[in-house]
Amino acid sequence: MTRQLSADIAVPSQCYLAEGPVWDPGTRLLRWVDINPGHVHGFDPATGAHTRFAAAGADGPAVPRADAVPVGAVGLTTTGGLVFAMVDGFALGPGQPAASGDYPLSPVEGFGLDRSVIRFNDGKPSPWGDFWAGTMPWRRGGPACALYKLIPGGQVTELFGGVGLSNGLDWSDDRTRFFYVDSFSGGVDVFTCDPATGELGERSRFITIDNGIPDGLTLDADGCLWLAVFGTGEARRYTPAGDLDTVIRLPVDQPTSMTFGGDDLSTLYITTARENLTPAEIAAQPHAGDIFACTPGTTGRPANRYLALG
Ligand code: BGC
Ligand code: CA
Repeated sequence: MTRQLSADIAVPSQCYLAEGPVWDPGTRLLRWVDINPGHVHGFDPATGAHTRFAAAGADGPAVPRADAVPVGAVGLTTTGGLVFAMVDGFALGPGQPAASGDYPLSPVEGFGLDRSVIRFNDGKPSPWGDFWAGTMPWRRGGPACALYKLIPGGQVTELFGGVGLSNGLDWSDDRTRFFYVDSFSGGVDVFTCDPATGELGERSRFITIDNGIPDGLTLDADGCLWLAVFGTGEARRYTPAGDLDTVIRLPVDQPTSMTFGGDDLSTLYITTARENLTPAEIAAQPHAGDIFACTPGTTGRPANRYLALG
């Protein structure tokens, strides 16, 4: 029997494309990005405080803007800072903006994408202290994309190419399996993985999604996989054998990703999007772009960190 759960609004953030949530135990903030406007959000569940800043470019309304610099993903570093997959490259910065409100972003030199056709999308620090992030075309029919890794010290290597739309990713606790979504492939794949180095081995299909688009994912402490299925209003849990065992139904169609947060990592925070919705659809789902929360009775795992040198 599949369990059915619901979720409450945790943060009425009204994002355009909220993505990549991560619980930061140092600041006790839930952090996430709003990709197109380039916002980095923080929510403190203890006080209810919700803040945001632009990692680069002008701050402004949560819509795609010519003066915004999109940010695909954010991760934590070992020194309390943040690591980013910006629209066309990697960057590092402190945990908070300066008192003036300016954010001192340091781009990683020597690597860049052609931002007129593709952009970075989902990414996460790996268990080996590097940061993995993949790309997607701005438009369907765009060039093939790839998954990259930023290693400590700042070099970037391509893990594999031939990707349609790079999306959710996570590693098993024993580091022998890597779960990965190419949204255009219609499912979640699993790679074998060298637990010492992270080198990827054989790739196979883990689950196939017949309706909707597989998007962000996270593994929980039971080794089960939570997947946001964009377009269906569902966040789903699959057992290690690939069986569906829980469905969280949201009052919005476009969940994008999720992570466990709170001091005991027992709250599942789900990010959502209002991108591509018509005004009539937004009127029917006014909470599209908000952050939802559910306590499904299991816990998450502490987030990996990028090893910041120097
Ligand atoms: C992308 C969105 C896309 C969605 C579903 C997200 O990760 O950022 O632009 O619409 O996946 O494919
Ligand atoms: Ca995503």
